[in-house]
Amino acid sequence: MKKRTARFKVHIFICTRQREDETKSCAEGEASAVKERLKILAEERGWKPQVRVSESGCLGVCAAGPNVMIYPQKIWFTGVHLDDCDEIAEEIESLLLD
Ligand code: FES
Repeated sequence: MKKRTARFKVHIFICTRQREDETKSCAEGEASAVKERLKILAEERGWKPQVRVSESGCLGVCAAGPNVMIYPQKIWFTGVHLDDCDEIAEEIESLLLD
């Protein structure tokens, strides 16, 4: 094993999990569409290689989903819809200026 420093300034995690039980899941909302839109925005805005957009498993806050978490800045967006992506993008842009 090697210990390394993360190479991304901003890492966006979008939970797309569909739970097997009756608990609310991020997949019931627009999580997959949000992930695809953020990937497109990353490409269009030239965020690479500073920003990585990743699909994630359960982030442990299912009832509040769909969830988008941003690290290492510890920002958490809940109840995210497709039309929130531009606002998330503006947040990312401000993080990249820091
Ligand atoms: S299913 Fe998304 S946080 Fe649990």
